Amino acid sequence: MSETFTKSMARNIFYGGTVFFFLLFLALTFDTQSVLPKRDNRAAITPAVVHGKNLWETNDCIGCHTLLGEGAYFAPELGNVYKRRGPDFIKAWIKAQPTHAEGRRQMPQFNFSDSDLDDLVAFLKYASEINTNHWPPNDEG
Ligand code: HEC
Repeated sequence: MSETFTKSMARNIFYGGTVFFFLLFLALTFDTQSVLPKRDNRAAITPAVVHGKNLWETNDCIGCHTLLGEGAYFAPELGNVYKRRGPDFIKAWIKAQPTHAEGRRQMPQFNFSDSDLDDLVAFLKYASEINTNHWPPNDEG
């Protein structure tokens, strides 16, 4: 075995490594894409969920909250709020804002109708049932 590390050895490691990791990247991409339909809860998307998502976007909930980690860090994570609080609490909470509780951050009043609140809850229920490999790691988001 040669004692020196030649240019051609370096080149072979570079090309070999590049090809290996590129193929690994393709395989993992393919794997992710093939399991996604089973994990992303797309079968549960109803017109109510779509409308709830629209309300979520047009009222800028994400300007304060995160949803599955994406968004702002001013207010609690809501990806699993349906599981931690349930539908009745969520509706009552949104209706009762702002709380004006001393020393707590405030959430605005949105004046949603009851059917809008039902649709927002439907969207949050859908989000809570996406298979995220148990993320966020605890109930409080
Ligand atoms: C201006 C920032 C702001 C916006 C915009 C906002 N929120 Fe909030 N939200 C908060 C804060 C702050 C809290 C926590 C308040 C507290 O704990 O006293 C909160 C709490 C909540 C909770 C209760 C969470 C829990 O764990 O109990 C829900 C549900 C919620 N928000 C839903 C929404 C929805 C839906 C929207 C959009 C329609 C929205 N929020 C928009 C600031 C905001």
